[in-house]
Amino acid sequence: MLSTLAIANYRSLRELIVPLGPLNVITGPNGSGKSNLYRALRLLALTARGGVIPSLAREGGLQSTLWAGPERFSRAVAKGEYAVQGTVRKDAVSLKLGFSGETFGYAIDLGLPVPGSSQFSLDPVIKRECIWGGPLLRPSTLLVDRQGPMIRIRDEAAGARQDDWMTLAQPVASFDSMMTEFADPRSAPEMIAVREQIRSWRFYDHFRTDEHAPARQVQIGTHSPVLADDGANLAAALQTIREIGDGAALDTAIGDAFPGARVEIVNHEGRFEVALRQEGLLRPLRGAELSDGTLRYLLLAAALLSPRPPALLVLDEPETSLHPDLLPSLARLIARASVHSQVLVVSHAARLVAALEREAGSQSIVLERRLGATALGDADSLDIPAWKWPVR
Ligand SMILES: Nc1ncnc2c1ncn2[C@@H]1O[C@H](COP(=O)(O)OP(=O)(O)O)[C@@H](O)[C@H]1O
Ligand SMILES: [Mg+2]
Repeated sequence: MLSTLAIANYRSLRELIVPLGPLNVITGPNGSGKSNLYRALRLLALTARGGVIPSLAREGGLQSTLWAGPERFSRAVAKGEYAVQGTVRKDAVSLKLGFSGETFGYAIDLGLPVPGSSQFSLDPVIKRECIWGGPLLRPSTLLVDRQGPMIRIRDEAAGARQDDWMTLAQPVASFDSMMTEFADPRSAPEMIAVREQIRSWRFYDHFRTDEHAPARQVQIGTHSPVLADDGANLAAALQTIREIGDGAALDTAIGDAFPGARVEIVNHEGRFEVALRQEGLLRPLRGAELSDGTLRYLLLAAALLSPRPPALLVLDEPETSLHPDLLPSLARLIARASVHSQVLVVSHAARLVAALEREAGSQSIVLERRLGATALGDADSLDIPAWKWPVR
């Protein structure tokens, strides 16, 4: 389980250290940085899949994702006596993402290339990556350390002293994470452990429910313990829950939200289509006929009842286009998922937030904006964990 999430210089997240529990509800007004937090966490997950640089490029490059405010606020500005003024940048550009838990921590620091060194002057460069044991980075807890192209690993062979390090012969490219490039389970088991943990994280935001949405289409039916990002395998995922997962919980979740209704999977010679049998109707409604809200609820149920729960499940505004009456049922599904996965829900819906706050083990994190930067609104009521970034 993650106990700390740390982000620096990503969009409105100038420096944010967030404590995490088993079930986390991120709320706050429009523009407070909730989606930025979601995106930063997804970007962190992409490092373990080799996708951090391309997705930064898709977001408009490092320069446009960087915190656009000043590097530091003077005391007068913080007190509101003077307007924020641009100053000449003194520190190097540095977008940092990290997390830690009981056993491991990881952080990555992205910057810009040395001018003139490459035609790819817009591509960020991975300057530093560290894996450490336990919640806090310290010289004594550091286990794997990448500085520029060089990776060194603490040598834990029998009798080795604390300061024995093994430097890898093969340098890594500036655009590759050490986690995608290096995979020797013997010399760096912690790297494999961290990578596999991050790779299991799952993110769902704004499922498509328009008339051409993939979830409405007839799809090839193969075992699908994990719902696809775009919901394309919805029918197969629901049938998988029926056959190898908690089918009773699926029926309860549907009956809970739509009294008397039952989800049915129509099998067209191996191709599956989702359908919903409802009270008062003579035939079940097919995928193409379901309302946006109903379809979205089915998608969320399939995501939350996955028979292969991820280590971390992150949802951005799952309430979108759901009727408010469905929110208590959705809250029950989320609470149930948090038994098997750590869950982080970004939400704007007061009713969903209130229902989740009543669940055991839940923690709400309220974001607000101060001088353009995202800050914890209820910082006094939260235990902000200690955090140290690696220095370049
Ligand atoms: N590079 C940046 N630097 C500073 N602030 C940014 C940057 N990019 C976006 N923002 C701010 O982040 C806010 C959007 O945050 P977002 O996470 O989408 O809000 P919400 O809480 O509504 O999901 C906008 O108000 C925008 O001003
Ligand atoms: Mg948002």
